[in-house]
Amino acid sequence: MRISVFRKAHFNAAHRLYNPNWSEEKNREVFGLCSNEYYHGHNYELEVKVTGEIDPETGFLINLNDLKQLIKEYVEHRYDHKNLNIEVEEFKNLNPTAENICYMIWKNLRPHLDKKYDLAVRLYETPRNFVEFPGS
Ligand code: NI
Repeated sequence: MRISVFRKAHFNAAHRLYNPNWSEEKNREVFGLCSNEYYHGHNYELEVKVTGEIDPETGFLINLNDLKQLIKEYVEHRYDHKNLNIEVEEFKNLNPTAENICYMIWKNLRPHLDKKYDLAVRLYETPRNFVEFPGS
């Protein structure tokens, strides 16, 4: 029987959506206010979903404290209160859209989670705008 466990997390970060190969006009046209050269912030909400089998010895799918620590170390410490474009390596040459941030969170967490689990990540950039990477 497969079951899923979720852990929510939160971070604040600043970003700017910008394609350096385009003119200022085209950036403004495509990214609107999000291309503002002085950056802007979001309160990102994260949902991490781990799927697998219940361990008969503990009754847990995964120890939530371990999952919490992984998210702290590989997401919150990397992104919280940062300017993503300037301070976070993976976004120096990658536009920090919700899609790319969501995928990078998955990529940063995946190697630290046992292969027996499936991992999916959902990221809310605003309460109404969110993206999900279902894994693989
Ligand atoms: Ni934005």
